[in-house]
Amino acid sequence: MAFSKHVNLGLSMPVCTLYNMNGKGSREMKMTLSVIKADIGSIGGHIAPSRKVLDTVLTHVQNDGKGLVIDSYISYTGDDIAILMTHTHGPLNEAIHKLAWEAFLAGTQVAKEQGLYGAGQDLLKDAFTGNVKGMGPAVAELEIEERPNEPFLFFAADKTDPGAYNLPLYLAFADPMNTPGLILSPPMSKGFKFVIMDVSYTEGNRIIELDAPEELYGIAALLRDPERFVVESIWSRQTGDQAVAVSTTRLHNIAGKYTGKDDPVMLVRVQQNFPATGEIVAPFAVGHYVGGGMRGSHQMPLMPVVLNSGTSYFDGPPMVSCAAFSVKQGKLTEVMDVFAHPFWNTVRDNVACKAIEMRRQGFFGAAMLPFTELEYTGITEKLNELDARFVVRK
Ligand code: F6R
Ligand code: MG
Ligand code: MG
Repeated sequence: MAFSKHVNLGLSMPVCTLYNMNGKGSREMKMTLSVIKADIGSIGGHIAPSRKVLDTVLTHVQNDGKGLVIDSYISYTGDDIAILMTHTHGPLNEAIHKLAWEAFLAGTQVAKEQGLYGAGQDLLKDAFTGNVKGMGPAVAELEIEERPNEPFLFFAADKTDPGAYNLPLYLAFADPMNTPGLILSPPMSKGFKFVIMDVSYTEGNRIIELDAPEELYGIAALLRDPERFVVESIWSRQTGDQAVAVSTTRLHNIAGKYTGKDDPVMLVRVQQNFPATGEIVAPFAVGHYVGGGMRGSHQMPLMPVVLNSGTSYFDGPPMVSCAAFSVKQGKLTEVMDVFAHPFWNTVRDNVACKAIEMRRQGFFGAAMLPFTELEYTGITEKLNELDARFVVRK
């Protein structure tokens, strides 16, 4: 299964009005990186989107994004399609979100025509209302003042939820055992601010801001519970710049019922004032257990995979891909597939062993998610039925 397409829209941004003649970004000029992803249907169950659906999404972004988007890149991870766009319109921009929403609608139409499974499954609302937050697709956006050289990483995970990034982000931004830069590099010595969301709260965005390293134990105490507390963003305390944006959607909070796992995307700026690329990706060698896998209801290890990988074992395993780019005045370089390096083959083998080991205990104990996180109602119904038959022995 190999689909890799780097789309360079070749649009002529009004360079002279936005940039100085020496090519450095002007102070007012800000670039936005937006990634919007959705599951709009797959071949053979939940394996991967079809080539035709991907082409439809891509063509839509290419045609309708003219004059709006500077550059874009379309990819898939498991059954999810992600649209990465660069532009100057800021986060939650209506035109940018509408472009992605309509691209997914066009793709859904094709998915239906092809009889793909779960066609349009993440498009939970009928009418577009300003931005796609709360409509089903996952969104992560970073508004940045481009450095003279601007490397960043785009992560996409499938068959899991946003809490899957808690452990890697904690290790990368708060633990010098993983990130020597925290003690070696003066621009990082003040540490990072973690913005953490309570995703079980449905009335609005309930968040807390905690500073590493001073409030490390508070950060750890929250991130320990990845189904409830999720890193939403991370900021440099030295410069105030945002380093990380994570999608924090909870699909079952929107739909009121199971519609698939939340399959999070994440953008991370790297190098200089931020951890190095290698420090950011190192924690993924752990292959930590995350919520997800079959029926969104299990604990399975997270496998780092190459770009454009489908699912397989046990509707998973939960997987994460990492696309590395440099960007200049909104133009993306070609993509580097971080987890394609031979190093990750051993990690993948280890994760496969961990997955098989966990599956040996089926639904017992730690193998299945706690009661409150089960994505199907079968157990609840069964327990209610049995509850009536319990007696207290005299
Ligand atoms: C997980 C996922 C799958 C399905 C499973 C059953 O995110 O999407 O594991 O839950 O394949 O799907 P249905 O109930 O649609 O047959
Ligand atoms: Mg998915
Ligand atoms: Mg799916």
